Amino acid sequence: MEPCVLVTGGAGFIGSALVRQLIYHSPWSVVVLDALGYAGHRANLEEVLSHLKCHFVHGDIAQRCLVAELLERYRPWAVVHLAALTHVDRSIDSPEPFVLTNVLGTQRLLEQTVHYWQALPAKQRKQFRFVHMSTDEVYGSLGPQGRFAPGDPLRPRSPYAASKAAADHLVEAFACTYGLPGIVVRSCNNYGPRQYPEKLIPLMILRAIGGQELPVYGTGENVREWIHVDDTARGLQAVLERGTAGEIYHLGSGLELANRDLVNQLCEILDRLNPRPDGRSYHEQIRLVEDRPGHDFRYALESETTYRRLQWRPRVPWPQGLEQTVRWYLQHQQWVDRVRRGYEGERLGRGLQKQESQTLVH
Ligand SMILES: NC(=O)c1ccc[n+]([C@@H]2O[C@H](COP(=O)([O-])OP(=O)(O)OC[C@H]3O[C@@H](n4cnc5c(N)ncnc54)[C@H](O)[C@@H]3O)[C@@H](O)[C@H]2O)c1
Repeated sequence: MEPCVLVTGGAGFIGSALVRQLIYHSPWSVVVLDALGYAGHRANLEEVLSHLKCHFVHGDIAQRCLVAELLERYRPWAVVHLAALTHVDRSIDSPEPFVLTNVLGTQRLLEQTVHYWQALPAKQRKQFRFVHMSTDEVYGSLGPQGRFAPGDPLRPRSPYAASKAAADHLVEAFACTYGLPGIVVRSCNNYGPRQYPEKLIPLMILRAIGGQELPVYGTGENVREWIHVDDTARGLQAVLERGTAGEIYHLGSGLELANRDLVNQLCEILDRLNPRPDGRSYHEQIRLVEDRPGHDFRYALESETTYRRLQWRPRVPWPQGLEQTVRWYLQHQQWVDRVRRGYEGERLGRGLQKQESQTLVH
């Protein structure tokens, strides 16, 4: 059997970009494990699903038997773990699903991986990698200066970030306790085609062309670092090819933008590519709205060390990548209609919603 990589969350935004990257530009076949939650769609993998190197398994990372069975069947030499709940605003409304998927789910996946890994022949055990995809948000919030370095203390401030930080700690704990060769990858905000329309860039594009207001949280001064999803996919491949077990890698671009400036740039691009029927500018739709609770001011990653160690660098230039992304959404209304499943861009993340009381004892 050809060497294979298991990609969890491979039907999501970054996962599907990674699967395409590995199918077309690596020698490995790919097994995708995805629960097809609201952000995961077969449509994201359309062009590769029929490829001989691609195997799709519909299932949850927390299903122990399923995970054990597919590890035995496909015998991957690496797991790239991207499956997660990923939207900060939804974690503010309801933290529990984030803990269940991102923490408990990761722990179960790690357990099954350790069982599989321990039974491998010595040479393969040494080569094996468990690559965990994490985020700059685990470090907490920065002021106007400075960057997070790999190994800085984790100070997550949203339920999403806390659940990702817990998963990062579990990967490191499984490496120390059981020897599993784990790697933690932390990336900044990704943009590009096929991102679920709850996230800032697709949300703004779709609301703009729908004639709706463009809500910018707070003063709009919060700063994020942006990387194209194809650069992240190439970065993850570099981690697989050249990453060292036990390391933390930063997949950042150095491109920082205040949210307000980003939305202004989107409006300028849309004014050119898809002028409003009344001839006015999309800028008129921008509104500053009540801030997100606990809104982190700024994230920025020190990625130079990773560039050197992995011989990888982001390539997609800004604003060309942003313009290409806008074009993609304008040309893929059918994809938008298929994936939305009832979400029409309404505001999320105002605060904790009342949950049904239920026991956690099984
Ligand atoms: N998008 C970003 O800007 C960004 C930045 C840094 C890190 N990350 C991390 O990268 C990873 C992928 O992010 P994304 O933006 O592609 O997310 P996404 O929401 O687009 O995709 C997540 C995928 O995981 C799947 N999934 C969720 N729960 C699952 C479960 N229990 N079992 C199996 N599959 C499950 C979903 O169906 C979906 O396909 C996440 O771990 C996220 O925390 C994302």
